[in-house]
Amino acid sequence: MDTNTDNAGMDYITARLATEGSPALAFGGDYNPEQWPEETWDEDVRLMREAGVNLVSVGIFSWSLLEPSEGVYDFGWLDRILDLLHANGIRVDLANATASPPPWFSHKYPQSLPVTADGVRHSYGSRQAFAASSPDYRRAAAALTEQIAARYKDHPAVVMWHIHNEYGCHNQPDFSDGAAAGFRRWLERRYGGLEDLNAAWGTAFWSQRYSAWDEILPPRTSGTWVNPTQQLDFARYSSDELLECYKAEAAIIRSHSGHPVTTNFMGFNMGLHQPVDYWRWSEEMDVVSNDHYLISEDPRNFQELAATADLTRGWANGKPWLLMEHSTSAVNWQPRNIAKAPGEMLRNSLQHVARGADGALFFQWRASRAGAEKFHSGMLPHAGTDTKVWREVVQLGRALRSLAEVSGSVVTGASGRVDVAILHDTDARWGSELDSHPSIDSSNIAETRRWHDAFYRAGIPTDFRRSTDDLSGYRLVVAPMQYLLSDAGVANLAGYAQSGGHLVVSYFSGIVDENDHIRLGSYPGAFSKLLGVQMEEFFPLRAGESVRLSSFGTGTCWQELGKAAGAEVLAAVTEGPAAGSPAVTRHRTGSGRAYYVATSLAPAGMAELLDVVCSDSAVQPLLTGLPADVEVARRSKNGTDWTFFINHGAGEARLDVNGVDLLSGDDTGGALTLAAGGVAVVRSQTSIH
Ligand code: GLA
Repeated sequence: MDTNTDNAGMDYITARLATEGSPALAFGGDYNPEQWPEETWDEDVRLMREAGVNLVSVGIFSWSLLEPSEGVYDFGWLDRILDLLHANGIRVDLANATASPPPWFSHKYPQSLPVTADGVRHSYGSRQAFAASSPDYRRAAAALTEQIAARYKDHPAVVMWHIHNEYGCHNQPDFSDGAAAGFRRWLERRYGGLEDLNAAWGTAFWSQRYSAWDEILPPRTSGTWVNPTQQLDFARYSSDELLECYKAEAAIIRSHSGHPVTTNFMGFNMGLHQPVDYWRWSEEMDVVSNDHYLISEDPRNFQELAATADLTRGWANGKPWLLMEHSTSAVNWQPRNIAKAPGEMLRNSLQHVARGADGALFFQWRASRAGAEKFHSGMLPHAGTDTKVWREVVQLGRALRSLAEVSGSVVTGASGRVDVAILHDTDARWGSELDSHPSIDSSNIAETRRWHDAFYRAGIPTDFRRSTDDLSGYRLVVAPMQYLLSDAGVANLAGYAQSGGHLVVSYFSGIVDENDHIRLGSYPGAFSKLLGVQMEEFFPLRAGESVRLSSFGTGTCWQELGKAAGAEVLAAVTEGPAAGSPAVTRHRTGSGRAYYVATSLAPAGMAELLDVVCSDSAVQPLLTGLPADVEVARRSKNGTDWTFFINHGAGEARLDVNGVDLLSGDDTGGALTLAAGGVAVVRSQTSIH
């Protein structure tokens, strides 16, 4: 296969993992045999077979061993482990090992190390210590990639290529002089001339006008807020610069091999990572793969998992994707790393499969003995095989084998397809996270999760899409805090609503254009007419404050002063300075409807609003009458449905459902009892629902 346009690579992988001719779901994890004496390798592969592991990622952080000094390569150990894995029927996702340059490299080429916004050059000694713009890094990464691809292109164990690792993770955004030069080149391509750049950046403000390209810098630390458009363009540039690294390495691999190429994403990419626009990146992937780690102290972390899995499926264009990493139990990088309760790992892994993953891999196979991640769980724990984790790993391997027939299927909803899309534009998020905004409490991610959570609780599946995507197949589209929208996005959303769609717009959406310039007129500038509202002033609420509404309970975070101009007011603010202003509105536009939600609704009010918009748009839950703690999701293929039931509650759940539970092998006979924390995957014919 040599296409990278349709994310079809997952089918290739499941076919290559086939047992007796039938595609298999991927099961395994990162395997770092170089951290262990070779004597352990035999035990590794024996236990991998015992657990049913069929795919491992090898070599991700091996650069310093594979190239111990410049241009000198040592592939002996890698040859031996790949041969051993092959002899044991275990396939390999082979890394090109470029994620962490060795000390000799950083020592010899110190200019390749990234520089912070404060001008501090980072040292090496952890990982990912490189600047994407560094020609030395790019040359060395290309040379190593060439060696690995040429050597292993025909190795029978290898079925897939793993480029780099989590681009942007622990990889300091680079503000060096090299980045300044790269940024200027990127800006010249974007704007052509300085006048256009000055106009886009609004440099008449605070005397920021540029008269020569050399004057332009990355948004380094300054006295106060740096130009917001400069910050936004720098995020775009930083993502593109890393993408250039990926593309160059992918091109080398593709010149040798037809196996699919991927790099592992990081879900919503929270924390101090470099900005990476996964929508753009996914166009370059043969397989979209993602790493997901639960925030162990989040009481609804399974909902965040569901949202991340749905987002990953969005990047994969609805096709199956690969869960490249998750954890068997605790991680090592949260303030308190809470281990997973018995059964939690199986629920997590199968939640990903329920939402489109064609496999479940972990970081990592054998828990490390040394290094910064020695307290991170693995498939094979420090305490060995007489453990909860190992027994559950073996159980998961068995479960995935019994679910093999699910591979290649797509996620569906009550109508036979997913009817609801939540928009999540990268620029909208980056823009909303800029400084000097009306309220620090307004958060694109939090608002997105609130909407996703409301649909999750209602048992209604959701896709994630971009404002510029074809939305015509969706009955309902939600735009949560889509602060920044391009003209094309605005026109697409208006067209969607006017031609019969149902569009829900939340507060602080459609506020600025792609240069972060206010869309003038009544707020929200992009949608005031479409929504039939004229809002004039934002009235963010104080920390912890809420405001009573005439319907849908209370609002938090935000309210607006304004009036309806054609829209029906479904809820108004009842108190305070914005009393009488609309909080929730509905407006007929063309043959569709557009709704505005000018505050952040609490879950109960959100659920009531969902009843209204779902009834208007004829969106149905997948199943009705389910206990609140039971998550349901469905995958379908060729007239067969697989319905996943995941009980997150502490009590037993009784469900009326027909079909065969693939995990137990039993026919439900019309009624299924799901133990507390239990999972069932029921196969039925599509005609039944
Ligand atoms: C990321 C990385 C892995 C490992 C895990 C730990 O996902 O890709 O190398 O560090 O985090 O959770």
